[in-house]
Amino acid sequence: MTELRVVEVAEEQLDSVWQVRARSFGMGGDRDEWKKSARSFIVDGRYLGVVDGDELVAAARVWPHEQWWGGRRVPMGGVAGVVVAPEYRGRGVGSLLMRAVLNVCAEKGYPLTALYPATTVLYRHLGYEFAGSRHLYTFEAADLRTLGGTSRGNGTAVRRAGRDDADLFLELAAKAHETRRSNGPLIWPRTEVESWLEDESNFAYVAEDGFVVYKWKDRNLAVEELIAGSEETARALWATVGSGASIAKTVEACCPPFDPIHLLVEHEALGKSWQNRWMLRLVDAPAALAGRGFPDGVVLEADLRIDDPELPANTGDWHLSISDGSASLTAREPSDDALRVGPRGLAALYAGTPLATLRGTGLVTGGAALADSAFDAVFGGPAAYMLDDF
Ligand SMILES: CC(C)(COP(=O)(O)OP(=O)(O)OC[C@H]1O[C@@H](n2cnc3c(N)ncnc32)[C@H](O)[C@@H]1OP(=O)(O)O)[C@@H](O)C(=O)NCCC(=O)NCCS
Repeated sequence: MTELRVVEVAEEQLDSVWQVRARSFGMGGDRDEWKKSARSFIVDGRYLGVVDGDELVAAARVWPHEQWWGGRRVPMGGVAGVVVAPEYRGRGVGSLLMRAVLNVCAEKGYPLTALYPATTVLYRHLGYEFAGSRHLYTFEAADLRTLGGTSRGNGTAVRRAGRDDADLFLELAAKAHETRRSNGPLIWPRTEVESWLEDESNFAYVAEDGFVVYKWKDRNLAVEELIAGSEETARALWATVGSGASIAKTVEACCPPFDPIHLLVEHEALGKSWQNRWMLRLVDAPAALAGRGFPDGVVLEADLRIDDPELPANTGDWHLSISDGSASLTAREPSDDALRVGPRGLAALYAGTPLATLRGTGLVTGGAALADSAFDAVFGGPAAYMLDDF
C-alpha cells in the first residue's frame, strides 16, 4: 500500500467507483444511468475518492441540497454513496474520506451536512448525530376514499397537473413549510419537480392550496408527496388517491408523525409503518444558526462553548442571541455559565432534541441555571423529518 490520497473523482475513475459500490451495496441499477448522475457530481468537485497509487479504493458524493429549518431554507451538503473497498476497510480510509467531505462542505459554503447512516460509528466520530427521521406509513385505501365526504366530494376543485405546474408546486410547498415552520424537509430543484411531473407513472393533482403526487407500487398505491394548506384540500387530495380503493388495498405515504392525515383517517396507520433516521452536522455554526428560523416571541441570551476538533472554526466561546425569529452567534470571552457542546450535541440541539436528552447522553454539560427550558423553547418545534432518501 502506497500513501493514500484524497482526490476529486475523474470521469475515467467512474468504472472503479462502480466496482467498489457493487462490492459495498450489491449490483443494482443501470450503469449508464448511474454514470450520468455521477457526472453531475464530478463537474463541480462534489465526488471525492481515495486512491492508493492509481487505484481508486473509496468514494463519496455530496448533494447540493437545501433544507427547511424553522421555516427557512438552509443549504445542506447531503452525503451519499460512502464506500470503501472491502480489502481497505477498518484502517481509517472511511474516516479520511469523510474528513475531506467535511472540508468540501465548508468550501462550498454549506452550513449543514446530513446523511442517512448505514453505521453510526464512523459518522459520530466525525461529529454527526441523529436529528430526524423519514417516516413511511401505510393506510387502508378504503379509509382515504371516504375522506372527501359525500360521493360527490367536498366541492374542492382538484385538477390534473403537468410539467408547467412545477413552479406552482414549489410555491405551494414553500408556503406550507414556512407556515408550519418545518424542520428537515428538502427543497427540490425545479428540474427535479419537472421530471417528476413529466413521468407518466406519476399521477399529479393540484388544488388551490395543495397538491399530491402518487403512483402504483405493485397492486397498491404510494404517495410521493402531499401538501395541503387546509382541511378541505387535505380531504380532497387524500380522497383522490383513495378513489383507487377498488384495486389498491393500501396506500403508503412518506409523511411526518404530526401530519394532519393521522387525525383525519378513521383507522390508525397499519403496523408495517417504519422510520429511517438521518444524521446532521453543523459545518459553519454561525451561518447555520443565522440561517434557520425560530419561533416568534421567544428570546434567548446564552453563552456557548463549542469544541469541534474536526472543524476548528466552530471551536470557541460564543454568545447566542435569539429574538424576533432569528439567531446570531458571536465570539465572546469565556464564561463560567456557558453551555458546553461538541459537534454532536450542537447538531442534536439544532434539530430540537430536548436538553434533558442531551444531558442524559453527556452531549451537553454546564450552562446557566434555568436556561434549559429557554433552549427547549427556542429550538423546539415540529420534529425534524425528511420525505426524501438520497
Ligand atoms: C462503512 C464503511 C464506509 C467504513 O469504512 P472504513 O474505512 O472501514 O472506516 P474506518 O476504518 O475509518 O472506521 C471508522 C470507525 O468506524 C467504525 N466502523 C467502520 N465500519 C463499521 C461497521 N460496519 N460497524 C460498526 N463500526 C464500524 C470503525 O471501527 C472505526 O471506529 P473506531 O475508530 O472506534 O474503531 C465501509 O465499511 C463500507 O464501505 N461499508 C459498506 C458500504 C456502507 O455501508 N457505506 C456506508 C453508507 S452510509
